Amino acid sequence: MATQRTFSIIKPDATKRNLTGKIIDKFESNGLRVVASKRIHMTEDQAKQFYAVHKERPFYGDLVSYMISGPVVVQVLEGENAIAKNREIMGATNPADAAEGTIRKEFAESIEANSVHGSDGEDTAKEEIAFFFDDNEIVG
Ligand code: PPS
Repeated sequence: MATQRTFSIIKPDATKRNLTGKIIDKFESNGLRVVASKRIHMTEDQAKQFYAVHKERPFYGDLVSYMISGPVVVQVLEGENAIAKNREIMGATNPADAAEGTIRKEFAESIEANSVHGSDGEDTAKEEIAFFFDDNEIVG
C-alpha cells in the first residue's frame, strides 16, 4: 500500500477540553504525519456544505450546529494506508462501540461530540482536503 493522505477534523468537544495535543499524539505515535493543520471556526455555510451528504438524515441540523459551536482543527494526515489507519485510530462513530485505545473510546462524549472526523475513502479524502486546503498549504 502506497503513502496516502487523509483529512481529519478535531471537533469542538475536543478543542474545548484542550485535547488537541493528546489527539495529535495518537496520530503521530501510530505512524501518521501531520502535513497541514489550521485551527478555524467553521462558518454555518462551510459546515452545511461539508456535511451535505447527510442533509436528509434526522441529525443534520444538530450536526451542523455542533460543528460551529466552537473551534476545530482541520488537518491533512499522511502515511502508509492513511485513510484506513486513521479510521482505526479514531474508533467507531459511537464511542459506546469504540475499541480500547482508540481516540473515541478515550475522549469522545457522545455520537455527536465524538472528538474527531476522518475521511471514509480515497475520493472523499481528496474532496475534503481540497475543501479546506490549497495545495501550497500542504507540506509533506
Ligand atoms: S460514518 O462514520 O459516516 O459512517 O457515521 P454516520 O453514522 O454515517 O455519521 C456521520 C456523521 O454524523 C454524525 N452523527 C451524528 N451527529 C449528531 N447526532 C447524531 N445522532 C449523529 N449520528 C451520527 C457522526 O458523528 C458523523 O460525523 P463525522 O464528522 O462524519 O465523523
